[in-house]
Amino acid sequence: ASLRHLNTFGFEVTADQLVMIRDTEQLAQLMGRLSQDPQPLLVLGGGSNLVLAEHVPGVVACMAIRRWEPTIEADRVRLWVGAGESWHETVEHTLRQGWYGLENLALIPGTVGAAPVQNIGAYGVELKDRLSRVEVFDCMESRLKILEREACGFAYRDSLFKSGEPGRYIITAVELNLSLIPDVQVGYAALRTALGDVREPDPQQVFDAVCVVRRSKLPSPDRVGNAGSFFKNPVISDKECRRLCTQEPDLVFYPDSSGGCKLAAGWLIDRCGLKGYRQNSVGVYPDQALVLVNWGGGDREAIERLAEYIQLKVRERFGVELEPEPRFYP
Ligand code: EPU
Repeated sequence: ASLRHLNTFGFEVTADQLVMIRDTEQLAQLMGRLSQDPQPLLVLGGGSNLVLAEHVPGVVACMAIRRWEPTIEADRVRLWVGAGESWHETVEHTLRQGWYGLENLALIPGTVGAAPVQNIGAYGVELKDRLSRVEVFDCMESRLKILEREACGFAYRDSLFKSGEPGRYIITAVELNLSLIPDVQVGYAALRTALGDVREPDPQQVFDAVCVVRRSKLPSPDRVGNAGSFFKNPVISDKECRRLCTQEPDLVFYPDSSGGCKLAAGWLIDRCGLKGYRQNSVGVYPDQALVLVNWGGGDREAIERLAEYIQLKVRERFGVELEPEPRFYP
């Protein structure tokens, strides 16, 4: 089977076996089969945070579980959403219902089930701020389970599912915790600029502004293959940050919860003169240096070569290590 349309880099990738999973019953069956006949398993959401090799061995399970179950209590909405639902459509639907909280997370590619894996975040809000529980299939105990938010190990672009116990849990649904009362987050500078002179924006206006900002600097995977930010924003010590600031007076950084400083990786790459840089079929996106793109005909090797070159340039100039953000498989 071809995974060309199932990875947002648009790489030509083949898989031994592609299975659609439409409910938890089908998932349990597949896992039963795999315990009899062990094979590598890749659980696929929207394929928007993945760097795939030319061939994917074993089984690819494409998560298509649908579910939409709201419970309203006072001014809160608890909403179970199936892993296979589109993230952005979920954001739109909740906003249309007057259920607020997801507006800053508009236009993030991928599915609901993939969202907790890297704890998606944008414009001052992370998924963990809006999620209460996750329903998972526990591959170790071969049964469905519900994990409370505190058990999910959420951190910046990280979770139990990504680095704590990768492969153990398959996310089947996510319970969101939304509000009937708007409480907008507009602290992010680019967002405030986009809102212009709107002083007290409502969630719809925040949603619209986020869409404008994202469309202006992030390429839509329908047009140009990419996986969003290719590197994490690196966190360095306070001391290291002061050293860099004397070297680079206009360095972009933010205080981090760890006590250190989080640098804007896009700024570092940009400052190395690499914005728009191209290596044959792949390159650095001209409007946002943190995004690597497949201009057509690229593959994992080409992206890896480009990423290594960028890491080298950033290391040489700033002494800072960039760590890739998407998952490499296999
Ligand atoms: N910058 C440059 N040149 C560039 C890119 C950025 O100078 O080419 C500067 C900007 O001017 C700004 C700073 O770097 O001062 C930060 O840039 P931006 O606001 O675009 O955000 P980011 O740090 O590059 C992160 C997330 C994005 C998320 C945005 C908005 C990571 C790895 N990336 O990007 O997430 O949408 O903030 O919150 O944390 C993703 O994870 O795939 C993703 C797109």
